[in-house]
Amino acid sequence: VIGAPKIERAIALAQVAPDTIFVVETEENARDLATAATRAGVDLNLALDLYFGRTGINPGAPAVDLARVVVRQPRVRFAGLQAYDGAAAHTTPFAARQARSTASMKQAVETRRMIEREGIACPLVTGGSTGTYRIDAEIAGITEIQPGSFAFMDAEYAGIGGPDGAEYRDFSQALTVIATVISRRPGVAVVDAGYKAFATDRPFTPAPIDLPGVTYGWAGDEHGRLDLSASDVDLRTGDRVAFVPPHCDPTVNLYDVIHAVRGDQVEAIWPIAARGKSQ
Ligand SMILES: Cc1ncc(COP(=O)(O)O)c(C=O)c1O
Repeated sequence: VIGAPKIERAIALAQVAPDTIFVVETEENARDLATAATRAGVDLNLALDLYFGRTGINPGAPAVDLARVVVRQPRVRFAGLQAYDGAAAHTTPFAARQARSTASMKQAVETRRMIEREGIACPLVTGGSTGTYRIDAEIAGITEIQPGSFAFMDAEYAGIGGPDGAEYRDFSQALTVIATVISRRPGVAVVDAGYKAFATDRPFTPAPIDLPGVTYGWAGDEHGRLDLSASDVDLRTGDRVAFVPPHCDPTVNLYDVIHAVRGDQVEAIWPIAARGKSQ
């Protein structure tokens, strides 16, 4: 959480949700947060964000030095280590993922040992993801795993591979985007779902469900083109087509609600509370 306006919001969050843990990678940020916490009269939980390729401080001695600074800050509780290796989550095949995540998490556990040798309690070592949860859960010293996508899954995660082959079968696909066929030409059906309906950060397109041989292509903000030429599937305007999105997290962020469906019954409508909170 960097910069005065965001730190103010972090303090406001800590006032209503005191269990929230914020991560830091620099002394300066730890001091800024502590100063704001002191001014507001609130206690903050701070963890060190360890670097595994995105943000954070290097594990080992640099992290120990930062832990020493964090524990000296007023109104700060040192929570421990955030050890999220996002790239490990998507490494294929499984054996390579296992090797990468094990190496990263071992660095985190070793960093905790080093911090504790300084007499600093380091309760939390949290890491892991949908792709690595079963690897990380086996590593002594990891105290918490933090997978998220498993609740929905998506086309990318289905393809990262499991211990038994190219498909990752630990979790089922639960998230679909439903579109309607709005236009039809020989060999082509156009649906009302384009860039605004699916996150587009993956190098592949949404996967139509139960339409063998049918492929989706982007056709604009509001449109997608289904190529039916290699398929026996017949679609008519008005037909509804369900897709597994390429990437669940940013796709969910495009919608106000989720319709929770069992069979053909909508059992609940869940608001997506964190949608659009990127400011
Ligand atoms: C810090 C952190 N932890 C956990 C996760 C969950 O990862 P996944 O959705 O791959 O299970 C994410 C995902 O973006 C993350 O950024």
